Amino acid sequence: MRRKLIAGNWKMHGALTSNAQLLQSVLTGAGNLSAVEIAVCVPFPYLAQARSLLEGTNIAWGAQNLSEQPQGAFTGEVGAPMLNDFGCRYVIVGHSERRCFYGETDALIAEKFAAALANRISPILCVGETLEQRDSGQTIEVVSTQVNAVLERIGIAGFSGAVIAYEPVWAIGTGRTATSAQAQEVHASIRALLSKADSGIAGQLRILYGGSVKPSNASELFSMEDIDGGLIGGASLVAADFLAICQAAFSFR
Ligand code: PGA
Repeated sequence: MRRKLIAGNWKMHGALTSNAQLLQSVLTGAGNLSAVEIAVCVPFPYLAQARSLLEGTNIAWGAQNLSEQPQGAFTGEVGAPMLNDFGCRYVIVGHSERRCFYGETDALIAEKFAAALANRISPILCVGETLEQRDSGQTIEVVSTQVNAVLERIGIAGFSGAVIAYEPVWAIGTGRTATSAQAQEVHASIRALLSKADSGIAGQLRILYGGSVKPSNASELFSMEDIDGGLIGGASLVAADFLAICQAAFSFR
């Protein structure tokens, strides 16, 4: 049985005051939802704040990116040992905004995934197709290539400490969600791909859906067999919405 995970991706949003309010509200509302794992992935400067407010609670925290290097002369980068210092349980790797706007390649993403694992931080590997790729019937091929890049670099054992998030690029921040059937098809294909390497690890792996998840569509998505929770962008910035999504996951625990 896979425990559902709801992870907030704050992206480049937040301020000390509003973060404190948001986290307090989430903490209050999440008190009786402990059957679901809840996490927030915050901008680097707020990791200390997240740790001080969330340590000892049932909400985990993490980052949204990391360097593939552990340390050194890499101006502006943040390494996995630093994330470890701040108690990160998770780090998002290969989000489509990093792939599109910052040129992250499958090869680099595989290195970042390895760096996270080497520091006992669970990577949340994001994969997903563009609208053009979906319309031309390439979805499964694109997603498989993205997953394979990591599988070939790390091996299947690396996935036992990881999470995958299927996030169709056309559904991110657009208000347009994949239907539960569309998402399920891709999730099942990812699990089948990894099952060929190790069915036990693939069976335990949590595969999240991300892309315009909101309270109104969360239950439908989480009811699907291979959807093990969500990576939540916009709705994670509104405590009531984030909690309603956690509640939806709770009902399928
Ligand atoms: P969204 O973002 O929920 O705002 O669509 C999801 C994500 O990019 O992780």
